[in-house]
Amino acid sequence: MQKLKVSLLTASCSIAFSVHAADIEVLHWWTSGGEAKAAVELKKMLEAKGHKWKDFAVAGGAGDNAMTALKTRVVSGQPPAAAQIKGPSIQEWGNEGVLASLDDVAKKEGWDKLLPPEVASIMKYKGSYVAAPVNVHRVNWLWVNPDLLKKANAKVPTSWDEFFKTADALQKAGIQPLAHGGQSWQDATVFEAVALGVGGSDFYKKAFIQLDPATLTSANMIKVLSTYKKLKLYTDKNASGREWNLATSMVISGKAAMQIMGDWAKGEFLAAGKVPGKDFLCVAAPGTAGAYTFNIDSFAMFKLPNKEAEKGQKDLAVTLMSPAFQETFNLNKGSIPVRQGLDMSKFDDCGKKSAEDFKATSAKGSLLPSWAHGMAMYSATQGAVVDVISQFWNDDTMTAQQASVKLAAAAKIK
Ligand code: GAL
Repeated sequence: MQKLKVSLLTASCSIAFSVHAADIEVLHWWTSGGEAKAAVELKKMLEAKGHKWKDFAVAGGAGDNAMTALKTRVVSGQPPAAAQIKGPSIQEWGNEGVLASLDDVAKKEGWDKLLPPEVASIMKYKGSYVAAPVNVHRVNWLWVNPDLLKKANAKVPTSWDEFFKTADALQKAGIQPLAHGGQSWQDATVFEAVALGVGGSDFYKKAFIQLDPATLTSANMIKVLSTYKKLKLYTDKNASGREWNLATSMVISGKAAMQIMGDWAKGEFLAAGKVPGKDFLCVAAPGTAGAYTFNIDSFAMFKLPNKEAEKGQKDLAVTLMSPAFQETFNLNKGSIPVRQGLDMSKFDDCGKKSAEDFKATSAKGSLLPSWAHGMAMYSATQGAVVDVISQFWNDDTMTAQQASVKLAAAAKIK
């Protein structure tokens, strides 16, 4: 009897254990309109698999606040089940020995065949998958309110010379040309677009991927910095500290004519019920039509002591790369699926254009990682470079020459 009781007790525990779904705590920074709508899709799909989504949302565009919160939790030995970690940071977290392998899921689901090789390698640490990719955001976009350009009889700019002509016409018509949020990552996002448009892809690679000191202090860099600083004349006095999605709202509501921002901005237009091609235009940032700066969101899973949570992490990884999630999430987020070969018919013209251009630049091997969004440098270097760019934007006494010397020094920080 005793034996039976023990086995019944064990059985009931194991049944209870398997019935109790795991709380899967997920750290992310998707709190704006479009971002939150997209994040809810992930919550819904994970809970449909019987797990409990524990939301660990830390507001703040581009995730600086989220990363600070993550470090605190990991240092205190209580990592979340999953966290939005991307680009070279995946290697840095891999070096800490805290990431769980996703190789079994990746193998079973065939990720190596579903992802472009340059994307798969970003998700691996020492050859093993430790992160699941979610999307492809294109960063080198200009978002335009066509009604305001019409009012000013101005044209959609395709070069920086044309941009300033259009901006002058808008200003003369009493319309604010450029919406901007004065936060360091947004300053860097705008600078990245100017650097690509003025300097070109080779210059971009030498400066921000190879961190070549000669390029960072070249005459071309001085031209880029001067062009970048000129943009400030076309922003408003209340830009400092403004969240990126509030800058997007200015273009949506007709308070400003344009914004230079990645296509998470499209998620805001869509969430506001705006129609691409009618209420807003998505065009390549001036001078970057043939180029593609990519920003791939991904989630890494942390090693956890309990098996149930591990099952939840694997289900999360499978969900993230599933065709259903890839379509629903990206339709809301403004990005495109990272899983190749999916039907793009539900995506709007901005999404279709992004997918075409991604494919074309990937085939030529000329995709460019967005350094402003953590896809090209280790975090210490990126932080130092972003700080110089933001300081140059804010400090009207700093010359382009001084900024370029500071850039070269910042690029040496490891
Ligand atoms: C990026 C992130 C995007 C978007 C943006 C604004 O770094 O990859 O998904 O959320 O920040 O917060």
